[in-house]
Amino acid sequence: MESSLAALLATALAEIPTAADEAALEELRLKYLGKKGSLTAISAGMRDVPPDRKAAVGAALNETRTGITAALDARKAEQIAAKDAKEAEGIDLTLPGRPVAPGALHPLTQVLDRAVGILRRMGFALATGPEVETEWHCFDALNTPADHPARHESDTFYFDSGHLLRTHTSSVQVRTMQTQTPPLRIIAPGSAFRRDEIDATHLSAFTQLEGLYVAENVSLGQLKGTLEAFFRALFGDTTEVRFRPHFFPFTEPSYEVDVKLSPKGQAPRWVEILGCGMVDPAVFQAICDARGDDVYHPDKVTGFAFGMGLERLAMIQWGIPDIRHLIENDVRFLGQFV
Ligand code: DAH
Repeated sequence: MESSLAALLATALAEIPTAADEAALEELRLKYLGKKGSLTAISAGMRDVPPDRKAAVGAALNETRTGITAALDARKAEQIAAKDAKEAEGIDLTLPGRPVAPGALHPLTQVLDRAVGILRRMGFALATGPEVETEWHCFDALNTPADHPARHESDTFYFDSGHLLRTHTSSVQVRTMQTQTPPLRIIAPGSAFRRDEIDATHLSAFTQLEGLYVAENVSLGQLKGTLEAFFRALFGDTTEVRFRPHFFPFTEPSYEVDVKLSPKGQAPRWVEILGCGMVDPAVFQAICDARGDDVYHPDKVTGFAFGMGLERLAMIQWGIPDIRHLIENDVRFLGQFV
């Protein structure tokens, strides 16, 4: 029996290294080690081995199995290595990699991040609201009468349901006061929509940043101080800021705020940047009616609000001459903000 084992091992070791592929190798594994294979057949002879030789023959049997298994594994490793080498053929692993061009944030995102960063450091928390709004949140609660031009079909995108695409982020003021109690200090960046003719200074979908502060005894002085600090953080310590009386339905008094800036290479001039004012008592009253309590009663709280267009801010910051550049995704334009 030991001599047949030795002969079997010799044949196997000669044959296995010639297995051409995976299938041929599997065939050899079955031929030598399978249930119906040669080794099984020979080991049936163990029955007839005299007891004093069983240990020696058993050891020879194991050695043969180990030898064949090792040969099968070695051939398998060779096959895998050959396959890998073939796949890598023609690939020069020593070549330098292709450089990845660095990306950058969109200029609008850069302005947004800066503005939000400054205001958050001043204590304003982020708030959000839906872009599809009710007329009540967008207009009525903000003291905007039914015949106000902003509410006209030609200015606002209406759905058949009576909902609309919010024309300003001021609706988030209303949403926040409905769900939170004063004192309250929030900013709400987000999209706004108007049926404007698209040109160098208008888009039908644009971005605003809204602010609202409500507490006891909030003053116009605080509004001025807050916005001046904001613009100085944004445009530099010596930036001049000017408040011009204006009208908004939801604030009284209301102002437009100009900042004195020198757009690239030009003489300094006043640039209008935002609308603001002290929250109109009528707005607080609408909130009280909706909430069914009086935590926002105009005798108890006052507040200020402001809203600005972020595309405009980006255009001023970088001297971008046409607002449409901001939505065209032209890499020749965007590549300048890396
Ligand atoms: N919602 C106004 C607009 O879109 C901007 C604005 C003005 C917002 C005055 C305010 C504010 O919060 O107090 O033109």
